[in-house]
Amino acid sequence: MPDPMTSSPASPKTDLRRADINPDFWYPLAWSKDLKRGKTIGRRFGRFPIALVRPEEGSVFALEDRCAHRQVPLSLGKVSGEAVQCCYHGWAYGRSGRCIDVPYLGKGKLPNGVKTYPCREAGGMIFVFPGDASKAESVPLPPLAQVDNPAFKTRHFSPVVKCHYTFLHENLMDMNHQFLHRRQMGQIKARFLGQDAGENFIEARYSFARTGNQQPLAERLIFGKHHDDPTREQPVEEIVSIRTTYPYQSLKIHDKDGDLIMELFSVYVPNTADGMSTQTFGLLSVLRPKTPFLIDLIWPALGIFTHRIFEEDREIMELEQNAWRELGGDHNVEVFPIVRKLRDLLAANGAAPGTDTTAQAEVSREQPADPVVV
Ligand code: FES
Ligand SMILES: [Fe+2]
Repeated sequence: MPDPMTSSPASPKTDLRRADINPDFWYPLAWSKDLKRGKTIGRRFGRFPIALVRPEEGSVFALEDRCAHRQVPLSLGKVSGEAVQCCYHGWAYGRSGRCIDVPYLGKGKLPNGVKTYPCREAGGMIFVFPGDASKAESVPLPPLAQVDNPAFKTRHFSPVVKCHYTFLHENLMDMNHQFLHRRQMGQIKARFLGQDAGENFIEARYSFARTGNQQPLAERLIFGKHHDDPTREQPVEEIVSIRTTYPYQSLKIHDKDGDLIMELFSVYVPNTADGMSTQTFGLLSVLRPKTPFLIDLIWPALGIFTHRIFEEDREIMELEQNAWRELGGDHNVEVFPIVRKLRDLLAANGAAPGTDTTAQAEVSREQPADPVVV
């Protein structure tokens, strides 16, 4: 058996932007709809290229995306039956990662294979467990917003932001940055209501007050009109709770009756070897209004509205990352207590930089060959 990928915790002195994401969790690497039957696609989890394979029959599986022969990506290969064949010389690998055929060799002399990763599908996503595979069974998948609840309509999104994944956690948790979105959302001010924290999570709760301008149309369609008294600052009635449960993040909005009206799930997956680019996988679930079809009418407007806001966030996070690069480290001056706690949480749950998997790759090549099945 291949050795599990091992990770050690980041030290408190580690620059947060150098701490690796902890691999001992389930991470989505692709949307299910993007991997058709009989196809394979290549994705990355940080330094690790991973081929996702949907065989002609059976469930999706995930392999190290390097052929054991000359290390070209298996994701460029051809799926035949329940195996993937490398595009170069046609070596074939099954879901266990073992090499099961070399077209020009006798069947008894097969070389060893490649690493395999635990793989599952849920909520329209393909999840992989990149870390110690022996832990995969005991680590649950995260709650995926309201993706299976018919009372909600769910939008999927997966933008890439060229920054370390920790910037994304900070950005969403820190609602004091509404100033950035003043052109999209009008002038609103966050009120911090309280927090909860534990070993692997932190939650901040806010309400918002509109301090000027009109409520934007998209927001009004989603939440209903707020009858603000123009003579004084009015709290709007929803409570926004943002929670990082490492390594996932959620944002929930409850109305004045305490009913959930919107839920966002997001997870941030490093997709380059240096960890300075991150693919978000997000699910945004919105409670369907009582009027049937209204949700479908407002859906495109909601998409444009959320896209514009996210583009502002993306631009600003990439500027933060550029400053980190130019200054050679993290010069963050954080004054907001909840964000300081969040940074501690991310550092404590992250992994020490540069987990070396060379040994693991070597071990995987020492696997005994399977009996021939093709
Ligand atoms: S490089 Fe994959 S079969 Fe030769
Ligand atoms: Fe934002």
